[in-house]
Amino acid sequence: MATIFYTATSLDGFIADPNNSLDWLFQFGELEPNTFEAFLAGVGAIAMGSTTYQWLYDHLSAEADNPQPWPYLVPTWVFTSRQLPTMANADLRFVSGEVEPIHRAMAIAAGDKNLWIVGGGDLAGQFYDAGLLDELVVQIASVALGGGAPLFPRRVDPPLQLLSAKTYGHHFAELHYRVLRPHG
Ligand SMILES: NC(=O)c1ccc[n+]([C@@H]2O[C@H](COP(=O)([O-])OP(=O)(O)OC[C@H]3O[C@@H](n4cnc5c(N)ncnc54)[C@H](OP(=O)(O)O)[C@@H]3O)[C@@H](O)[C@H]2O)c1
Repeated sequence: MATIFYTATSLDGFIADPNNSLDWLFQFGELEPNTFEAFLAGVGAIAMGSTTYQWLYDHLSAEADNPQPWPYLVPTWVFTSRQLPTMANADLRFVSGEVEPIHRAMAIAAGDKNLWIVGGGDLAGQFYDAGLLDELVVQIASVALGGGAPLFPRRVDPPLQLLSAKTYGHHFAELHYRVLRPHG
């Protein structure tokens, strides 16, 4: 079981533009080959921050007479200090505060499967700060945004260990890193 921050990013390190839009990413369509399906099959619990949840909620609910279903079957912990709208047929758990107890609950729910930290970057950073982040998988798109939601607003030390670097089509490189702990 590993706790993995898996996300797409711009070349200049933003996971959403200043308007919280992902149009810069969706212009490319699906990655070929699509590694996300295989990744998701190994995920047993999900965590995301409220901006990410609200983005998903808004897009899934965009057509009032034809709402799209929540896409994930495994439980999702949504970090927020606010009351957010929920979704039908979705296992959503709204939480706030320290990540450690949430991580314990996620690990129990996930069994031997992985924990996916969807984002944003600071939430992934909170897991990193607590020594609970094991891996980063970032798909770097060949665009720069000049600003937006940061990929990983942390000082990373010791350096991450690069496990693999792959190319996808003409626009993406995927880097897979292991997080090293300060003392082994
Ligand atoms: N490129 C990609 O593949 C990708 C992946 C993921 C996300 N995204 C996008 O990137 C953007 C990320 O937004 P973001 O940087 O604002 O991050 P976010 O993590 O989605 O949301 C941050 C908010 O979550 C809440 N939160 C975070 N930690 C908390 C804690 N420990 N306890 C309680 N609440 C906590 C806080 O809001 P409140 O307390 O006010 O609710 C905080 O302002 C979104 O637009 C999202 O759609 C892109």
